[in-house]
Amino acid sequence: MERCRSRLFLAAPKQKELDVKKIPAVLGLLLFWFAGSAAPATDGAALYKKSCGGCHGNKGTLTPGGSAPIRGLPGDVLLDKLAGYAEGRLGGPAGKPMRDAARKLPEGDRAVLAEHIGAL
Ligand code: HEC
Repeated sequence: MERCRSRLFLAAPKQKELDVKKIPAVLGLLLFWFAGSAAPATDGAALYKKSCGGCHGNKGTLTPGGSAPIRGLPGDVLLDKLAGYAEGRLGGPAGKPMRDAARKLPEGDRAVLAEHIGAL
C-alpha cells in the first residue's frame, strides 16, 4: 500500500510537467499548419502584385509587349497560357520576360492566380 501511494505521488507531478511543456510545441505546430495552408488560398492579390502586376498592371489592364490585357481572363485560358509560356510553346522574341515569369511561378500558385485574375 505504501509503495502504491508513493508511485502515484511520483507519477502525478511528472505528468503535469510534461503537459505544460507540450503546450508551446502544440501551439507552434498549429500555427505553422495554419500559416502554411491558409496563405496561398487567401492571398491571390499579394501573389499577383508580386509576380505579375509589375508588367501587367495592378488591374491587369496593361499590354506588355503588345499582348492583350489579362484582366478577367477565364481561369482555364490563363492556366493554359501560363503552361504554354513555361513550356516555351508561346511567345516570340518579346515573350522572354513572360516565359521567365511563368517558369518562376510555383505550380501550386497557378490556380490561386487564375482565380484572382478572372475576378479582376
Ligand atoms: C517581366 C514582365 C512580365 C511579368 C512579370 C509577367 N508577364 Fe505576362 N506577359 C509579359 C509579356 C511581355 C507578354 C507578351 C509575351 C508575348 O509576346 O507573347 C505577356 C503575356 C502574358 C499573357 C498572354 C496574354 C495574351 O493573351 O496575349 C498572359 C495570360 C500573361 N502574360 C499572364 C501573366 C501572369 C499570370 C503573370 C504572373 C505570374 C505574368 N504574366 C507575369 C510580361 C510579363
